[in-house]
Amino acid sequence: VQISVAKSGGNATTNLQYGAMEEEINHCGEGGLYAELIRNRAFQGSTTYPSSLDAWTAVGDSTLSLQNLSSPLSSALPTSVKVSGTGIAGLVNEGFWGIDVRPQKYSGSFYVKGSYKGLFTASLQSATTGRTLASVKVESKCLDSEWVQHDFTLTPKEIASNTNNTLSVTFDASKASSGSLDFNLISLFPPTWNNRPNGMRRDLMQALSDLGPKFLRFPGGNNLEGDTIEGRWKWNETIGPLKNRPGRATTWGYEETSGMGLVEYMEWCDDLGMEPILAVWAGLALNGDVVAEADLDIYVQDALDELEFLTGSVDTKYGALRAEYGHPEPWTIRYVEVGNEDNLNGGLSSYQSYRFPAFYDAITAKYPDIQVLASTIDMTLPGSAGGDYHLYDIPDNFITKFDMFDNYTDEHPILLGEIAATEYNNDVGIDWSDMDFSLYPWWIGSVAEAVFLLGAERNADKILGTTYAPYLMNLDSYEWSPTMISFNANPDDTAKSTSWHVYNLFNKNHMTHTLPTTWDDTYGPLYYVAGLDGQTNSRIFKAAVYNSTADVPVSLTFEGVGRGTAADLTILTAPSAFSMNEVGGANTVHSQTTTIKAGKKGVFSFSLPNLSVAVLTTNA
Ligand code: AHR
Repeated sequence: VQISVAKSGGNATTNLQYGAMEEEINHCGEGGLYAELIRNRAFQGSTTYPSSLDAWTAVGDSTLSLQNLSSPLSSALPTSVKVSGTGIAGLVNEGFWGIDVRPQKYSGSFYVKGSYKGLFTASLQSATTGRTLASVKVESKCLDSEWVQHDFTLTPKEIASNTNNTLSVTFDASKASSGSLDFNLISLFPPTWNNRPNGMRRDLMQALSDLGPKFLRFPGGNNLEGDTIEGRWKWNETIGPLKNRPGRATTWGYEETSGMGLVEYMEWCDDLGMEPILAVWAGLALNGDVVAEADLDIYVQDALDELEFLTGSVDTKYGALRAEYGHPEPWTIRYVEVGNEDNLNGGLSSYQSYRFPAFYDAITAKYPDIQVLASTIDMTLPGSAGGDYHLYDIPDNFITKFDMFDNYTDEHPILLGEIAATEYNNDVGIDWSDMDFSLYPWWIGSVAEAVFLLGAERNADKILGTTYAPYLMNLDSYEWSPTMISFNANPDDTAKSTSWHVYNLFNKNHMTHTLPTTWDDTYGPLYYVAGLDGQTNSRIFKAAVYNSTADVPVSLTFEGVGRGTAADLTILTAPSAFSMNEVGGANTVHSQTTTIKAGKKGVFSFSLPNLSVAVLTTNA
């Protein structure tokens, strides 16, 4: 095919383009990005998931029993564990299906109540061999009637042979009055990204940082909505000292500690230079319960309070609270999404008639610079509101949606807030009844996503940005696959998916403007977009080939670019349509960059194989 790219005349694209989406699912935060190594650290529970001793066992002959004491550690953490025994007593935690132990500093702490004049021992141990990998004595500061926090550090001398390791905390029960002590909020962190206390796991942040997402959509997803109105994600219960965070039942089958709360999300944005796209609760729960119009005000006010907490000066009520929690400088919020998938669960009519308008009016009145987004595009959007579109489907259906946004209005920007090829093409379309989804992104699915992304880039004046979803999955406990990045307790096993490589290529070659093209063919099997990076003045051509019976020869010209001009051509391929990047496995995506020169009349000649994704750049 022959493609000619004009010198000017396209549209400016948004800067956000490729971002990330986060919600508590798949233990992506708890037992994932949030670097806490202790599972069920504060015995948090709810009516959905009652408090339990999950992940804990007793040392030797000692016994563990959950207690709701009359003087708990805090009203947020009412349940603690009583450890009783006669000699050496204690408790052992198995971590989030293992604990990674290597020569680095681990920072731990635990709260104890009860009279004890002796030493505690905190140790990391191999559950495979019983070997102690690191151990430290902690002098008791215990008081009979108060909860006292004890801190410790552990520095193993060598890397453990696997992650089948535990943390134990023991004491001499014969020196404790009544032979028992009460424990709560037992915590252990490895070194975190940027060494933030209560911070993020380094390898996963590295995988994200390598990708360079420009925005973060959070905190959901369904998890924002909650199964019930009462079970919604409540921003004000995710801030402040950990002992003041009650946690909650996620919508994804487990209790969260809320250790990764609103402030941690913002710090994450700061650390990776991501624009926050803050989702606020919009009056719809997953069970279909909707807040009546007459009762909506308090939830609208709650969203305004959340915005004041994030952006208000220290002279405001919630700005002062943020300062008290260590952030006197306000953050900037430019995007707020109202709810999540409010077109589902019977929510659309109330959303369209009063729920979205109420949030939109209140937020734009107080914060005129904030771009408010609806959580769907299945409705008429008021004023300057944008919308959010989600797509989970079989690869073939991504191809048919390549031109989906060509005739879309540019008055209401669209966020592509959850995008993923999930099921194989042998299904007619996605089947939500069995959700027989692929465990990992697979190559043909990633190429199909690339085709859809090219369609979005062609319309990047209308598309605010795109993110894969869900983003992260702990392979030891997950509810939804595939995800952008997969992992287990061993940081060395973290897998950047085939889709990660596609997004990475497109993201690293950002076009500030599209450029008009003419060609002698129609889209399929070759799909492409062309444009310019105004920062570096380089011309960019991005393409994908899907379902071709042969290599596709391309003759490409850029207006004003002459013979002999050099261009870098990067082509991604994989051994098969079903190649996947598995946890603990090798990267199957092959990336080859060659420098080619324009021939007669400035033509760059190359060919692209079936199921390939390519970017050509030239600085002419
Ligand atoms: O990303 C997984 C789920 O898919 C999200 O929670 C929801 O928004 C969507 O249906």
